[in-house]
Amino acid sequence: MKGIVLAGGLGSRLSPLTRITNKHLLPVYDRPMVYYPIQTLVEAGMDDILIVTGGYSAGDFLKLLRNGAEFGLRHLNYAYQEGEGGIADALKLAEDFADGGPVCVVLGDNILENSIATFVKKFRHQGSGAKILMCKVPDPQRFGVPIFDGERILRIEEKPQAPQSPYAVIGVYMYDNRVFDIIKTLVPSGRGELEITDVNNAYIQTGDISWEVIDGWWTDAGTFDSLLNASNLVAELKARSGEKKVAIVK
Ligand code: DAU
Repeated sequence: MKGIVLAGGLGSRLSPLTRITNKHLLPVYDRPMVYYPIQTLVEAGMDDILIVTGGYSAGDFLKLLRNGAEFGLRHLNYAYQEGEGGIADALKLAEDFADGGPVCVVLGDNILENSIATFVKKFRHQGSGAKILMCKVPDPQRFGVPIFDGERILRIEEKPQAPQSPYAVIGVYMYDNRVFDIIKTLVPSGRGELEITDVNNAYIQTGDISWEVIDGWWTDAGTFDSLLNASNLVAELKARSGEKKVAIVK
C-alpha cells in the first residue's frame, strides 16, 4: 500500500506563524511537524510515499526532506496543490501516484503516540472499502464526529456544534482506489472545501467501511493550543521512552 501525507493548505489558524512558511515546517518539539506523519507511514511499513503540499514554501519541503534518506526511504514523491481547496482536493492529486491501488492517508498536522501498523494490516485483510480511526477527545466539536447506532456508524458530522459522540475521526484514513471516483462527485462545503468527511460518509453509505478506536494519545497541531500540546506530548514521550520512540530511522 502506498502512503500519502497531506501538507497543503494555508494554516491560517496559526497566523502569523504561517505568514512566511508552511504550517507543516513549524517545529513540534525537536522536529518539523511533517516528520511525524511521514514517520507514522514508514513505521507502518510504507516505503512509497507522496507529500502533497502547496503555498509559497513548497520548495522548502524538498530542501528539508530531500529523498527521505533520514526515514530510511530511497526516494520521496511530491505534488503541489493549487490554493486551499480542502483535504479531499489535496488527495485528488494522488490519483496517478496511487496507480489503481489502495492508499493510507495521514494529515500533515496529525501526530500519534503509537504505531498504526496493526490497523494497516487489518485494512489489507479487509481488501476493499475504507478504514477510519477514532480517538476519544474532550473537544469533539473541533473535528469530524461519528454518530453511532450501536456499533454501526450512521454518519460523520464535520465540526458539529452539538457533537453526538465524544469521538474525533482522526486524520489517518485507509481507502481503496474508489476514493478517487468518490472525490470527483463531491461539491465544496460551506467553508468552500472538498471535505474528507464527505468522502467517509460516501463509504458509510456503501457499508464498506470499518472503524477502530486507537490506543494512546493523538493530536492535531493546527491551532496555537494544539501545537503547544503536541510539542509537550512529544517531549514527554521522548523523556519516557528515550530516543527510540520518536527517533528517525538512519
Ligand atoms: O485532525 C483531524 C481532523 O482534520 C478531522 O477530524 C476532520 O474531520 C478533518 O476535516 C480535519 O479537520 P481540520 O479542519 O482540522 O483540517 P485542516 O483544515 O486543519 O487540515 C488538516 C490538514 O489537511 C492540514 O494540516 C494539511 C491538509 N490540507 C488541508 C487543506 C484545507 C491540505 O493538504 N490541503 C487543504 O486544502
